[in-house]
Amino acid sequence: MRKWIYINKLKEFVGETVEIRGWVYNLRSSGKVRFILLRDGTGFVQTVMFSATKDSPQFKKFDKLSLETSIILWGKVKKEKRSPGGVEIEIEDFDIVQITDNYPIQKKEHSIGFLMPLRHLWIRSKKQFAILRLRDILIWKIREFFKNEGFANVDTPILTPSSCEGTTTLFETEYFEQKAYLSQSGQLYNEANAMALGKVYCFGPTFRAEKSKTRRHLIEFWMVEPEAAYYNYEDMIKVAENFVEYIIQETIKEGREYLDMLERDTTQLEKIKAPFPRIKYTDAFKILKDNGSETPEGEDFGGTDETIISSQFEKPVFVTHFPADIKAFYMQPDPEDSKYTLSFDLLAPEGYGEIIGGSERIHDYDLLLKKIKEEGFSEEDYKWYLDLRKYGSVPHSGFGLGLERTLSWITGIHHIREAIPFPRTLYNLYP
Ligand code: 4AD
Ligand code: MG
Repeated sequence: MRKWIYINKLKEFVGETVEIRGWVYNLRSSGKVRFILLRDGTGFVQTVMFSATKDSPQFKKFDKLSLETSIILWGKVKKEKRSPGGVEIEIEDFDIVQITDNYPIQKKEHSIGFLMPLRHLWIRSKKQFAILRLRDILIWKIREFFKNEGFANVDTPILTPSSCEGTTTLFETEYFEQKAYLSQSGQLYNEANAMALGKVYCFGPTFRAEKSKTRRHLIEFWMVEPEAAYYNYEDMIKVAENFVEYIIQETIKEGREYLDMLERDTTQLEKIKAPFPRIKYTDAFKILKDNGSETPEGEDFGGTDETIISSQFEKPVFVTHFPADIKAFYMQPDPEDSKYTLSFDLLAPEGYGEIIGGSERIHDYDLLLKKIKEEGFSEEDYKWYLDLRKYGSVPHSGFGLGLERTLSWITGIHHIREAIPFPRTLYNLYP
């Protein structure tokens, strides 16, 4: 019996003979040498076998192999400086589990149109593997930050009776005799959780029926949302910048080998240290005008606008004090000018756009009720939310960070669809 070892642990077994259970990632032969590049879900390793004659039984077995054939292999672990994991395997023997015929994804460039319907197989390829490994690391670092800072994880429902971020992007579904909507954000429930547990965060899938077909938009994406009682706008901005520094620095440290697989130059990412620059919405428009944007002041930024603004800075930049007219109903007005709100968006560098949206929340009952009515919502639907302003209301603040936008930035990928295992985009529901 050989010990079954995962590829990412091979370094600890130099000189020993081990068992690896995996799939053929690539094959190569030259003269009396055969190479199998093997993957097992934790990494990739080069395995080699030698033979004096070309028709040895092992070479015959090698000839049956094809891409993605599943095999169990035994061999000796050797140090090999030139190979990415620092080791190589000298094959003693292997068993075929299942031969794969005609694997549809070949070792050449394929179009996105070809790869998307094969997403269930495409995730096996090296680039997708590296992105998904980094996603796992990022998720843990997010949770670690909040645990270290004393935020409790309290989750929020996905099926909800009302809207959080406006009614234009709601997914409606039947809920027995009633109508329900898929959650656009856990925020409103999170505010209730914060009044019960102080500092909380929720982390889960959120849904937006957005007709935007851009490289930054998903229909289903994951959002992590902290919310804290007695935190004002300033307190929460500080949480946001420390949080972003932590998750970026920790993820690039722990995910180095995967970033190398992606050939991601991390020079820019290494500079992401708090504090981050801040500009007010009105000043952001001065930058936009000087750079030829045609978006009229008073409207929300487009993707190009975000890129223009963020390219003025090396670090992520906070845009603050958005007009109340273009933001959600729950945002606390700026005490200096109630046309504006105590809100902040964080724009990532390198053209990755808005990764955080947050604000201080209205804590006054009458003002909140007025806003709910102005929005055209029914008071009845928000009765429970208004209750939070009736029973021990306190100033509180929070934000939401989009997981896939942040991962796109870290990995340097062009399109957000590769930052989630099974993307839901405007035209993609399969697989
Ligand atoms: O700015 P948003 O809409 O804010 C909220 O939903 C607040 N209720 C959050 C809160 O304060 N608790 O969304 C927050 C973040 C955005 O900055 C972006 O990173 C991401 O969620 N996001 C999307 N990511 C991918 N695809 C989409 N369609 C996204 N819409 C928002
Ligand atoms: Mg936003």
